[in-house]
Amino acid sequence: MAVLVTGGAGYIGSQTCVHLLEAGKEIVVVDNFSNSSPKSAKAVREITGKDFPLIECDIRDTEKLDEVFTQYDIEAVIHFAGLKAVGESVSKPLEYYDNNIGGTLKLIEVMKKHGVKCIVFSSSATVYGERHLAPFNEEMEAGGTTNPYGTTKLFIEQILKDIAAADSEWSVSLLRYFNPIGAHISGKIGEAPNGIPNNLMPYISQVAVGKREKLSVFGNDYDTPDGTGVRDYIHVADLADGHVVALDRALSVKGCEIFNLGTGKGVSVLQLVHAFIEATGVDVPYVITARRPGDIATSYADCSKAEKVLGWKAKRDIFDACRDTWRWQKNNPNGFDD
Ligand code: NAD
Ligand code: UFG
Repeated sequence: MAVLVTGGAGYIGSQTCVHLLEAGKEIVVVDNFSNSSPKSAKAVREITGKDFPLIECDIRDTEKLDEVFTQYDIEAVIHFAGLKAVGESVSKPLEYYDNNIGGTLKLIEVMKKHGVKCIVFSSSATVYGERHLAPFNEEMEAGGTTNPYGTTKLFIEQILKDIAAADSEWSVSLLRYFNPIGAHISGKIGEAPNGIPNNLMPYISQVAVGKREKLSVFGNDYDTPDGTGVRDYIHVADLADGHVVALDRALSVKGCEIFNLGTGKGVSVLQLVHAFIEATGVDVPYVITARRPGDIATSYADCSKAEKVLGWKAKRDIFDACRDTWRWQKNNPNGFDD
């Protein structure tokens, strides 16, 4: 029996593949490589010494997906595939609704046809919207998303909840990630954004490696200890561990469950910048600029449910994440193109 990993060539997917293989799972990866390279799978094989099928497939291509489910004995799906750039989603909403929601519907259709009723889904802290104060917990009502990307996560969560409510044989695990950072400790896989990074950590590491001149810190007038935005930065390896335990739980418990995956600690932009400088010894010049539209002041998780139910807790800190990011960045300044 194998686990199908959609979007498994991407940043979080490839790291999770390593942890799944190390936990002794069989995996099959599908990806359309719209935001990744098949080279990440090669690195996953190098790291783990294990082989697995990597199939170029868009999850909206039901015929091809059907072939994958026919060829392999799939027992569950971890569903990472999707578009994730917040700003781009505002200018290209249809692409986001089609790829993320349309793709998920097609995937579920094929899963159902093959009697596979277990799915772990990559959701996001963005579904908490702007209406609650951190720490966010799973009991808080989701909604009030501020961009089409966030809305796709909200809608997909609802679709999966409805499916689990309609058919008691389904297991659905909705994992709400906070801010994933870091890279595999080997420095062989990590985040490789196309063009100018939208997210803080890849921007910091590209400044550190000399690809960008300086970081713009988006606002220092928030109601936070140093005025800069506060987020819950979780090491991607901890996130990957979270998927392995969430998968095991979903394989044994029916119904829909939601888990925050974060550290429970808020870290400001400037704290992360200084942690990077301290951990790596490399300078990161920055300037303070205007706030970025749509940003909230503070976001961090209440992770007590994941700890209680899954027995999972983040083990790595931001200094580990900075060191690992830097190892990946300096060995691969151009990502998988190197
Ligand atoms: P990523 O872009 O590195 O990985 C997504 C992968 O999905 C890529 O390899 C891409 O090529 C693939 N893909 C996209 N559309 C596809 C399609 N239609 N068919 C097949 N493959 C497709 O992103 P990531 O950071 O690894 O994120 C993985 C998931 O986690 C995404 O669903 C993302 O929305 C979610 N998430 C990410 C973050 C974050 O900050 N990185 C936070 C919360 C949630
Ligand atoms: N920031 C800067 N300069 C930059 C980039 C970011 O100051 O160049 C600041 C932001 O203003 C924010 C913090 O750094 O205060 C973190 O910003 P990111 O863009 O790294 O992360 P966000 O919290 O805005 O969003 C991320 C993902 C979303 C996801 C959300 C919650 O991009 O997809 O986390 O999981 F929904």
